[in-house]
Amino acid sequence: MSQLRTLSATEVPSERLLLRRALHDADREGFIELYTDPEVQAYLGGPQPRSDVEQRFDAAIASATSRPGNYVIADNTTNRLVGTLMLTRRSTDGPGYVTEDGEELELGYVLRRSAWGAGFALEAATATLRAAADELPDQPVLLVTQTANKRSLKLAARLGFCPIGTFEEFGAEQTLCTAPLAKFKI
Ligand SMILES: CC(C)(COP(=O)(O)OP(=O)(O)OC[C@H]1O[C@@H](n2cnc3c(N)ncnc32)[C@H](O)[C@@H]1OP(=O)(O)O)[C@@H](O)C(=O)NCCC(=O)NCCS
Repeated sequence: MSQLRTLSATEVPSERLLLRRALHDADREGFIELYTDPEVQAYLGGPQPRSDVEQRFDAAIASATSRPGNYVIADNTTNRLVGTLMLTRRSTDGPGYVTEDGEELELGYVLRRSAWGAGFALEAATATLRAAADELPDQPVLLVTQTANKRSLKLAARLGFCPIGTFEEFGAEQTLCTAPLAKFKI
């Protein structure tokens, strides 16, 4: 079972950011913006209805525990929500895995439009992967992104992920990238 864990830390600090498992009431506006902004959601299935997102936020706030590997990326001086980052296990329901059993660690990230172009996703992902490499045994980490999502592919390359193939999912071509977790150990 140990192979199926993800990072246990409730907080991951970095130079300008604090990644935290806890969702705060003050995250509401930023959380809703992330899922309703057409530009942010362009390669993630499109913007979602505000009422659905509000309900999801209310349910997440009401639940006492946040799911392991799901982080709010906050500015470490203002505590303002900048985005979210996920280091979770990839479901075997769809295509895109590199081991026989699947359920590899998978990295995902979403930043508010106003936070793009400042290196925040790179900083958040690097800090999280370093912390995970300290805690977990070496294993492949996946990153799946629409092939048309050039910003995300640039970030994947900057992080040191290698593209190893493509597949169709959600009506679009996806690029599967991978990197060994141990690569992030310092
Ligand atoms: C994918 C996404 C997170 C990338 O955001 P990003 O800000 O471009 O990514 P990075 O954190 O790597 O920042 C890189 C940019 O910041 C700039 N930058 C500024 N200061 C920097 C610093 N201190 N360190 C590094 N980069 C810096 C870089 O020059 C680069 O700009 P450029 O792309 O114009 O050349 C963002 O576009 C997003 O949230 N998209 C919507 C969600 C999504 O599609 N997610 C993918 C699902 S897996």
